[in-house]
Amino acid sequence: MKNNIFLIGFMGAGKSSIARTLKQQYHMRLIEMDEQIEAEQGMKISQIFSEKGEDYFRSLETRLLEGLQQQENTVVSCGGGVPMRRCNVDAMKKSGMIVYLSAKPETIYGRVCNSHTRPLLEGNMNVEYITGLLKARLPKYLEAADVVVKTDGKSLQEICRCIMEKI
Ligand code: S3P
Repeated sequence: MKNNIFLIGFMGAGKSSIARTLKQQYHMRLIEMDEQIEAEQGMKISQIFSEKGEDYFRSLETRLLEGLQQQENTVVSCGGGVPMRRCNVDAMKKSGMIVYLSAKPETIYGRVCNSHTRPLLEGNMNVEYITGLLKARLPKYLEAADVVVKTDGKSLQEICRCIMEKI
């Protein structure tokens, strides 16, 4: 089993910030899936959604994960929709531990409300929509997770310590 860490969770759960902190504190390599897809495609995520469609984006996520099998000592900050596909979960399990970062809808809203980089939340930027989508996704997040870490009210350092204690 490779020693990679896959951070999963809803948009705004803190995956990117926590991944950066893990990289610094534990000298891990970092892969930010959305950034890597944007760099490879030469397009922003919102542009990929609008010009190529969501299914195309989902296939890019799957291809990227499959290409990560040889990585070691790497923390991967996954897009929020990654665990919705079973094949993605299988690919992650082959090369590391999956950590679900949980956050309440109100916490998520507070973190994402001023951002316009997430196509699924454009026109849906409210706690009710986030609550509904989180509820629909939660079973898949929990099924994929080896470890669950609550992030509400915790500092980045506390969350990272919690992750390292549990894995
Ligand atoms: C998505 C989450 C986003 C990005 C895309 C779709 C999702 O990533 O991959 O907008 O389906 O939850 P973050 O979770 O990093 O915001």
